[in-house]
Amino acid sequence: MRRKIVAGNWKMNGSRDLAKSLVGSVRSGISDLDNGAEVVIIPPALYVRDVVELAGASVSVGVQNVGQWLSGAYTGEISAGMARDMGCEFALVGHSERRQLFGETDESVAAKVEHLLSSGLTAVVCVGETLAERESGKAESVVAAQVRSGLAKVGHDRWQQVVVAYEPVWAIGTGKTATAGDAQAMHGWIRNQLAELGAPAEDVSLLYGGSVKADNAAALFAEPDIDGGLIGGASLKAEDFVSICRAVPASI
Ligand code: PGA
Repeated sequence: MRRKIVAGNWKMNGSRDLAKSLVGSVRSGISDLDNGAEVVIIPPALYVRDVVELAGASVSVGVQNVGQWLSGAYTGEISAGMARDMGCEFALVGHSERRQLFGETDESVAAKVEHLLSSGLTAVVCVGETLAERESGKAESVVAAQVRSGLAKVGHDRWQQVVVAYEPVWAIGTGKTATAGDAQAMHGWIRNQLAELGAPAEDVSLLYGGSVKADNAAALFAEPDIDGGLIGGASLKAEDFVSICRAVPASI
């Protein structure tokens, strides 16, 4: 069955105090949420422990990145197993900021996905084209290549742990959102790629990310292939994030 998910990626923002107060406000804000959406908070890794302790059963926790190795001499890295050990259920992989600023490649994405799935986490694999790629008509081929190589090693029994987040790079943190129609078209395309990879494509959740706000979330989430959102800036304001969680229609 397709999961409905709203995940808040705090990126490198906040403080321990802010983390604690945000989790408390989100938790109470969604206490009567009845649309079936899974709510996920993805704080900086150092705050995971606090967030897990405060989150309660209604909020899941994730990490923004893991290393591509199981363990060893990789100073500064954390592993998929460690994230699981600390109570995380989700991890982002291949966020465009990691691809652009930290040299993340489709190969490292594939290695991370493999470790995350075998550690029992859900991998939220981020894909998306740049503005130049969109303007030159390459958006679909870029996204298809990211999906196919990032998910090349997923075993047939692991697809329920895979979520794909389509985040056009030009929409992240810019206030420019893809139109609901454009986002839906790309989500349909991604679902076709998944089917060709042998995935149970209708059951894989596809999230949209890129300037999702309280006032545009409902239109995006109403599309048939958009199963929720990956939220950056708006996840740092509890009231906005809670409104976005509420914008998931009960029927998707
Ligand atoms: P944004 O970020 O909502 O601030 O555009 C989304 C993301 O990077 O996941």
